[in-house]
Amino acid sequence: MAGNRSWTFFLTVCAVSVLGADAEIKFSIPVGKLFTHELMRETFQNDFEPLSKLYAGRLYDDPMVFKCNLQNFPDLPEWLRFTQRHPYDNGFLYGTPTAPGKSIIEIHAINKRSYETTRQLLIINAVAEKRLPFQAEFFIKLRDIERVLPSPVQDEIKQDLQRLWKTEALEIVNITNALDRGGRVPLPLAGHFEGVYVKVGSEQYFSDCLLMVLTAEHQKQCKAGAKTRIPGECNFCSIPSNCITWCKIELFDLSRQAPPPPPPTMGPGILEAGGEFNPPESPPSRDYFPDYIVTVIVPLILAIILCALLAYIMFCRREGVIQLYHHHTIHGDTEELRSMAGCRGVRPPMSTFPMFDARTGQSAPPLHSDSIPLIMPQQ
Ligand SMILES: *[C@@H]1O[C@H](CO)[C@@H](O)[C@H](O)[C@H]1NC(C)=O
Repeated sequence: MAGNRSWTFFLTVCAVSVLGADAEIKFSIPVGKLFTHELMRETFQNDFEPLSKLYAGRLYDDPMVFKCNLQNFPDLPEWLRFTQRHPYDNGFLYGTPTAPGKSIIEIHAINKRSYETTRQLLIINAVAEKRLPFQAEFFIKLRDIERVLPSPVQDEIKQDLQRLWKTEALEIVNITNALDRGGRVPLPLAGHFEGVYVKVGSEQYFSDCLLMVLTAEHQKQCKAGAKTRIPGECNFCSIPSNCITWCKIELFDLSRQAPPPPPPTMGPGILEAGGEFNPPESPPSRDYFPDYIVTVIVPLILAIILCALLAYIMFCRREGVIQLYHHHTIHGDTEELRSMAGCRGVRPPMSTFPMFDARTGQSAPPLHSDSIPLIMPQQ
């Protein structure tokens, strides 16, 4: 018995490590039609607790959040959107591919109880397909996007629209949250919803009911703002929350393509032939001598004159000589004071003598400078 159990355990571990390592799901979807993929919390729960069901006999119901991105990119491709209302709800990937090609989507599930994570790969291969020529968009007021994406609800909505269009050949082209189209977040009150746009397409031309939307009378009624009801013969909504808003129907006739704009007229791209190349004449030569005299010679002459004037004043005039002498004595006095600071008992400074005698070497004047105290005694 025990051996049997451990054998089962071993097998499970092997299976999990093989399956869990590259859990990947492949899809091949047509371009231009809605793709929806529900991220089931139950599936991811198995990845988190692969053995709990086996041993504890119960499965946890953990809150989970999902992070989805295109492999090696931070975000999802432009056409694909993700939504999850609450960690206890399943998540949805949805969108309409616009061009053929392969996208590898990485899904990380984070368990909000244990903070474990697990990864899944989604390989979506979009295949080119003919576009549906007649398309119409409807607004469903009493719905949130998460309540519309599960496939049973999509089918209910599609059935109502099939009866309105009077054809079975109808495909859902796009489902959009009204919030992505400029809608407002409603108050969290019962009976208030974000609203959802559903776009469907068909090979068949619009029914009479749909064509009523194009009449001037319909447009006038809707502009007036009165609560325009769906005419009785066109009202096919079986479930009240799936009812469409009559005034917000939009029809798209893609069969009549607008002609492409005419291509721009091309020039020859070559310049016209015009003989030999004639280089332009070189400009006439200019005489720079007057400019040279004005900018160089005149300031130079002025500078020389000023120098000569200064020299004359300094060396040949009495005031200049005195000034030069004065400068000289200041220099000498400084020297003298420096030497006096070196030792005591030196003779009084020369500046205490009458100026010219001491310096010119003439004999001391009759005034005895020794007897004059340098600092007058206080009275
Ligand atoms: C689907 O709707 C979204 C949102 O309005 C829009 O960006 C996108 O182009 C639509 N896709 C198609 C194929 O119409």
